[in-house]
Amino acid sequence: MGYFSIALDGPAGAGKSTVAKKLATKLGYIYVDTGAMYRAMALHFIRNGISAEDSGAIEAACETADVTITHQNGEQVVLLNGENVNGLIRTEEVSQMASISSANKQVRLKMVELQRQLAKQENVVMDGRDIGSYVLPDANVKVFLTASVEVRAKRRYDEQIAKGMECSLAEIEENIRERDYRDSHREFAPLVQAEDAVLMDNSDMTIEENVEKLYEMCMSAQN
Ligand code: DC
Repeated sequence: MGYFSIALDGPAGAGKSTVAKKLATKLGYIYVDTGAMYRAMALHFIRNGISAEDSGAIEAACETADVTITHQNGEQVVLLNGENVNGLIRTEEVSQMASISSANKQVRLKMVELQRQLAKQENVVMDGRDIGSYVLPDANVKVFLTASVEVRAKRRYDEQIAKGMECSLAEIEENIRERDYRDSHREFAPLVQAEDAVLMDNSDMTIEENVEKLYEMCMSAQN
């Protein structure tokens, strides 16, 4: 029997990683955060002084980036050329670079291959933008998770404030709008709801309610 896969897609700030992580724990599956892989690639480009618009340089730099995923105490660890970069990939600079460089076909093909490999080896809850539509078209459960731009911006804002980082709600909202636009308008494998995905708007759900709903869907798909 093959492994079970849950594809969770949606825009920035929809709470995918939070609910995906909890869902994976509840199911006893491995959680795969594909955004973190694109972020690790972005960090590699930034470190090499590459401009987001220089697709030639980005493609060349793909050759020198080795991104791998391991798990430690249930946490996903992203290794960039062997270095744990978990603590370095959540900055606004990396977010912006990841949003632009992830539109590059070479970058995507490299990451997609790695994602498909992971899903072949374990039961996974995988979150991203194109998991149900492109990476794992045969996923057992596909959900497109979203929330209003205002709710998503407020969540990011609260997160940053809780971390003691100064930020502006208006600026975060603007960045989210920009990223939504770029993620859904890129030519290759854009952010799109797969035809057979269930649309779930969690603007008015608590994290626990959201996890519970997803868990029930997974349970009925398993039976
Ligand atoms: O989910 P996130 O914010 O960590 O993702 C970072 C960027 O990577 C985001 O701009 C979209 C992109 N991404 C993607 O293109 N495909 C994925 N499967 C996951 C993320």
